[in-house]
Amino acid sequence: MPSEDPPQGDGLPPRRAARTLLTAVLDRKRSLDDALGDLDPGLSQRDRAFARQLAATALRRLGQIDAVSALLLRQGPPKRAPDIPDILRLGLAQILFLRTPAHAAVSTSVDLARETAEGRFAGLVNAVLRRAAREAAQLLPARDAAELNTPPWLWARWTAAYGADAARAIAARHLEEPPLDITAKADAGLWAARLEAEALPTGTLRRRHDGPVTELPGYAEGAWWVQDAGAALPARLFGPVAGLTVVDLCAAPGGKTAQLAAAGARVIAVDRSAPRLDRLRANLRRLGLEVETVEADATAWQPPTPADAVLLDAPCTSTGTIRRHPDIARLKRPGDVAKLAATQARLLAHAATLLRPGGLLVWSTCSLEPEEGEERIARLLAQGAPLRREPVSPAEIGGLAEIVTPLGEIRSLPSHGAAFGGLDGFHIARLRRIG
Ligand SMILES: C[S@@+](CC[C@H](N)C(=O)[O-])C[C@H]1O[C@@H](n2cnc3c(N)ncnc32)[C@H](O)[C@@H]1O
Repeated sequence: MPSEDPPQGDGLPPRRAARTLLTAVLDRKRSLDDALGDLDPGLSQRDRAFARQLAATALRRLGQIDAVSALLLRQGPPKRAPDIPDILRLGLAQILFLRTPAHAAVSTSVDLARETAEGRFAGLVNAVLRRAAREAAQLLPARDAAELNTPPWLWARWTAAYGADAARAIAARHLEEPPLDITAKADAGLWAARLEAEALPTGTLRRRHDGPVTELPGYAEGAWWVQDAGAALPARLFGPVAGLTVVDLCAAPGGKTAQLAAAGARVIAVDRSAPRLDRLRANLRRLGLEVETVEADATAWQPPTPADAVLLDAPCTSTGTIRRHPDIARLKRPGDVAKLAATQARLLAHAATLLRPGGLLVWSTCSLEPEEGEERIARLLAQGAPLRREPVSPAEIGGLAEIVTPLGEIRSLPSHGAAFGGLDGFHIARLRRIG
């Protein structure tokens, strides 16, 4: 597993930050990215990257880590010491999965414990982590790591939707560190060479992540942006869009907006979140791309004239992105699926009314849950919406036949694209307005 270079100095600042991140996710139910945004701006890029990697590894391996913790703390976690479990989790993540030298993992964890009001447990942290370092191989439970690190409700859902083998393959992919995926504004071949990236059959450029992306060639000049290979598929399904008016509903932070604008479309980017629209504007500014932005609720907003094309990249549980965002598995709850499916149904019904006859609607969600994908499109069509499926052919997406369904929709799973290291889980459908 790749690991950030060891931090400078005493190594405490990034580990302190990792503890803040882990506690924000597990106790305060903040997303990892939001919690990262709240960290001390004085933290170096390198320490920030290490803190994220540490917290993300603890989240990715939480099932195994807590099982080892339970073995080592036979009498359970210390009472009235709420900070100690997360400090132990981060120590175990380093010892068991990040190959951090044991002395560094142990001593910094002890220092973290001493900094809390629970300093009296520093000795316990020391003893537990030293033993973990000595007995790492024997301690890791024999039970399947993929299942152990997956919340049971998600495991049950994926087994029901895709079968036991596929559920296991999906969950196994979540244990890996994701690659860095990039969409080039133009000249993908040139940027593949400059970035020393692999050009995937779908057009995405992929390389292993090593340090801040802002330091990679082409970032400052706005030649490319970060976008998962699965996330890059929906905008490609419109075909040539130069000169067309494309409404991008739910547009922020703008990865798909950028694709459409770079392909020459006149894009109206709609989102109801002002801060997220600010991020979209900043992203598009860096890329030198111009779009119209509208802060509005996409269940009610109307364009001035019917659109040639509409992209609806709807809000969802995002369970297709757990490899990149391991916090999702710990933050989402079973009830979120039905709530978001209801929102998606409203957004879809309205989106269908914004098109001119003959226009294309592309729908996407980064969820593995059929209620947020296949079922939404089937229900929309069964209710008589004036749309028909415009089937996607594998040739349009680099020959990736395994992600095209018999109905001509896309259902990608993180376990697909094994030859190049997988892609996020998406449901995507293309529909043409009739009448
Ligand atoms: C999946 S993200 C979009 C990602 C984006 N398309 C991209 O490629 O970068 C969903 C977005 O939907 C927005 N959203 C959620 N409900 C909305 C609504 N009713 N109207 C407009 N935007 C909404 C959220 O603010 C969020 O930015």
